Amino acid sequence: MFTIKLQTTGQYFTCQNSASYLLEILELHWIKVEYQCRSGYCGICRLKLVKGDVAYYQSPLALINDGEILPCCCMLTTNIELGI
Ligand code: FES
Repeated sequence: MFTIKLQTTGQYFTCQNSASYLLEILELHWIKVEYQCRSGYCGICRLKLVKGDVAYYQSPLALINDGEILPCCCMLTTNIELGI
C-alpha cells in the first residue's frame, strides 16, 4: 500500500492496489488528468513527479523529461508526490 500526495493542494490518499496504473488510481479519486492513448505513446498524460518512484511494465515510447512520468502506464513502487 502506497501513499499519493498532490503538491498543489496537499491532498493525499492511499493506494490499496499498487498493480493498477497510476492514472486509474487518480481517476478513482476524481483527480482529472488529460490523456489520449493510455498506452505510453502520446505523452499527453505526463505529470511532474516531485518525490518517490514509479515503474513501467514496458518502456513508454513518448518522450518525457527528467522528473516527469506517464501515469497511464506506470505503477507505484514507493510513496509518491505529484506536482499537480
Ligand atoms: S495517455 Fe498517452 S502517454 Fe499517457
